[in-house]
Amino acid sequence: MSSQGIQPSIRTVASTQSEMTEIILPNDTNTLGNLLGGRLMHFIDVTGAMAAYRHARTHVVTAAMDHIDFIQPVRLGDLVTLKSSVNRAFTRSMEVGVKVWAENTRTGAVSHVASAYLVFVAVDEHGRMQTVPQLKPETPDEIRRHEDALRRRQHRERETARRKEAKLVTAALADGEKG
Ligand SMILES: CC(C)(COP(=O)(O)OP(=O)(O)OC[C@H]1O[C@@H](n2cnc3c(N)ncnc32)[C@H](O)[C@@H]1OP(=O)(O)O)[C@@H](O)C(=O)NCCC(=O)NCCS
Repeated sequence: MSSQGIQPSIRTVASTQSEMTEIILPNDTNTLGNLLGGRLMHFIDVTGAMAAYRHARTHVVTAAMDHIDFIQPVRLGDLVTLKSSVNRAFTRSMEVGVKVWAENTRTGAVSHVASAYLVFVAVDEHGRMQTVPQLKPETPDEIRRHEDALRRRQHRERETARRKEAKLVTAALADGEKG
């Protein structure tokens, strides 16, 4: 299934769903025995990329990771399960949602510990951006996530424009001080 020639023009959310489970070992934790935030972000990035690969069927790079909530700590020895799926496909980019649960292996108690949204961009083996198939949301939850993803994209675009403008103002002020 490697040929680009058989790419469908539309895919379902279900076809992108991905899952990963990890056991939290001492190397993954801080001095309190809690999972390091950076390690969890790595797991989130990897699981998010799995959904993006399943949608794009080409290489993907992480363009952004936004809105990550660390709801409660994950302890040494817990099993961490991450689930991801594409929320919306744009032209060359896709928003992926990742949800994370921790399971206490002694009690079996499972709790939702984190959620995040990431944007991946499809590229070929030379790093040239590629268009991605469109995504067809089917269930009410998928339709809601699809609509929310568009709002988040618009918010990201506004934020990027605001940061660019702030940078220009700072540079102009610095120039004024010099002159
Ligand atoms: C991601 C990357 C390919 C975008 O390149 P670019 O020239 O800024 O891209 P463009 O402005 O032409 O936008 C291309 C697409 O990416 C999206 N995009 C670019 N930057 C983005 C950002 N910061 N957040 C969300 N989406 C972004 C655009 O919305 C556009 O999507 P669309 O085609 O679906 O409309 C480039 O910035 C890159 O290679 N970054 C490094 C990626 C990487 O190494 N990731 C690992 C992290 S260390």
